[in-house]
Amino acid sequence: MRRTMSCGALRAEHAGRTVTLAGWVNRRRDLGGLIFLDLRDHGGMSQVVALPEHADVLKVAERVRSEFVLEVHGHVRLRPEAQRSERLATGDVELVADAITVLSEADTPPFPIDGSVDASDVNEDLRLRHRYLDLRRSAALAPLRLRHRVTKAIWDYLDEAGFLHVETPLLTRSTPEGARDYVVPARGRPGHVYALPQSPQLFKQMLMVGGVDRYFQIARCFRDEDLRADRQPDFTQLDLEMAFVEVDDVLTLNESLMAHVVHLATGSAPATPFPRLSYRDAMERFGSDKPDVRFGLELTDLDDTFAATDVRALRGVLDAGGVVRALRVPVEHAGSVSRKDIEALEAHAKRYGAHGLAWLRRGEDGFSGPLAKALSDDERAALTALSSAVGDLWLLVAGPWETACTALGAVRLRLREHLDLPLAAGHAFVWVLDFPLFERDGEGGWTSMHHPFTRPHDDDLPLLERDPGAVRAQAYDLVMNGFEIGGGSIRIHRSDVQERVFTVLGMSTEEARSRFGFFLDALRYGTPPHGGIAWGLDRLVMLLAGARSLREVIAFPKNQRGADPLTDAPAPADAAQWAELGLAVVAARDTDDGVSVDLEVS
Ligand code: AMO
Repeated sequence: MRRTMSCGALRAEHAGRTVTLAGWVNRRRDLGGLIFLDLRDHGGMSQVVALPEHADVLKVAERVRSEFVLEVHGHVRLRPEAQRSERLATGDVELVADAITVLSEADTPPFPIDGSVDASDVNEDLRLRHRYLDLRRSAALAPLRLRHRVTKAIWDYLDEAGFLHVETPLLTRSTPEGARDYVVPARGRPGHVYALPQSPQLFKQMLMVGGVDRYFQIARCFRDEDLRADRQPDFTQLDLEMAFVEVDDVLTLNESLMAHVVHLATGSAPATPFPRLSYRDAMERFGSDKPDVRFGLELTDLDDTFAATDVRALRGVLDAGGVVRALRVPVEHAGSVSRKDIEALEAHAKRYGAHGLAWLRRGEDGFSGPLAKALSDDERAALTALSSAVGDLWLLVAGPWETACTALGAVRLRLREHLDLPLAAGHAFVWVLDFPLFERDGEGGWTSMHHPFTRPHDDDLPLLERDPGAVRAQAYDLVMNGFEIGGGSIRIHRSDVQERVFTVLGMSTEEARSRFGFFLDALRYGTPPHGGIAWGLDRLVMLLAGARSLREVIAFPKNQRGADPLTDAPAPADAAQWAELGLAVVAARDTDDGVSVDLEVS
């Protein structure tokens, strides 16, 4: 070993000992004939001192620069009382060098990593371009350590619970999870592609057919979709599946697994069982299918209040089958919401499909606001009864149910930030259940709300063809602090039901066979009822780490444009590669990011 201990391990009890440390020079201070070096490694930092009496050591110390890699041999001594540092765990001692070996020299780093500059002040692409330098900061490494602990806790718990870790293929066929596939052209079969898995969904189901009984995988998944702070094109799931289970079995196992993981990661476990909300209640109360339940400000249903209304904007919506929903900002906060703030909130609501955000302020002598004059006496009385006090502010959205709820849900989150409302302590987990199986696809057809393998409620099977919109799914999402961190379901285990679902989704028998024939076949050979879930592992670690983006908890993440500034991926393929793949570039198009190409199979 080139060292006897980590740079972070030196303590007063080591005074008098001879040790060897190795690491990077964090900073060098030359006091003229006396040089201090802060030596850093994965474990922390120690102060090394080169004294004038060791001329050869001083000579080496004079030429070292930040980020040089050194091996330092010397003896540990207590620092004089006045020079002790509380900032460092090693601050009571220093290493007096009697030999310094330069193991590696370093160019000046493109951004400071010695702690003198906050990482958030450095351009993120520059940090990602040199992520290996960024990771030398202990704050950058900490989330990866946490991730390791979380993964280990998962492994230990599931191993104990009889789960088998199985790896499923990365070069495979499309698994529909609502995103575009990343495809890999097959050199041996021009015109054919592998798809990278959006999830291991079909393989884990086939493992159940295969009798594996309890499966899990720390699985890499790939989805070509719009990127956000909580999405990456390649990301990691904890994927699991269990045979012979019902909804409650999956939820209970996941609750104790999560409690175990959060306890090991943070020292305190969330209370179990987690609260459960139906999709409908989550939307009605919080305007979201991933509600942040750590604060109130819940939505109010004003359909009854306005059932007989003559207010034109509302009448039209209600007659068209729409709804009126509102947020009541109580008097103690309403004063902090100005007309200008309401305009900004309205712009926000419009981004979520609302036509507008109406408001009513309850004053001493009635309501003010754009709708106030048109209110009937009954409506005024009803709103007064629903208000807590004079001064309350009502924010209203009228529209189709989902749009009205979603837009107000978005306004609710914005308002919380604006008003700086406190959040309940700890991590808030909620199950959202009873999703519809299908939703409208915008073109008159139906699409799966989760994925096409989700089992309908048994009672709703007769509705599959007759009234697809009314069919409930045996699906569940796990929500943490307002983020969807997991989703799963009990699966269809009968090929006839699976075929009927494909039909509702507009897939002809031929198309279903050509895309999923292998899977429909598997279902025919004796399939146990089964169900499971997948957690977004990156998301979970992000929330446990208190990080603001997934990029902080992934060693080598993609940037906001889905590119990797470190390797400069995606990179152009050369002519020989295209030729081998039987592809040719037929047109190049300028995009914001550079040049993208349209391809044709030649
Ligand atoms: P779903 O599509 O809900 O379910 O994915 C499960 C969880 O994965 C996380 N997630 C992502 N994390 C980072 N970047 C992304 N682009 C991304 N997309 C999804 C979310 C999500 O809750 N096969 C089903 C699971 C099942 O039914 O068992 C599936 O993949 O936290």
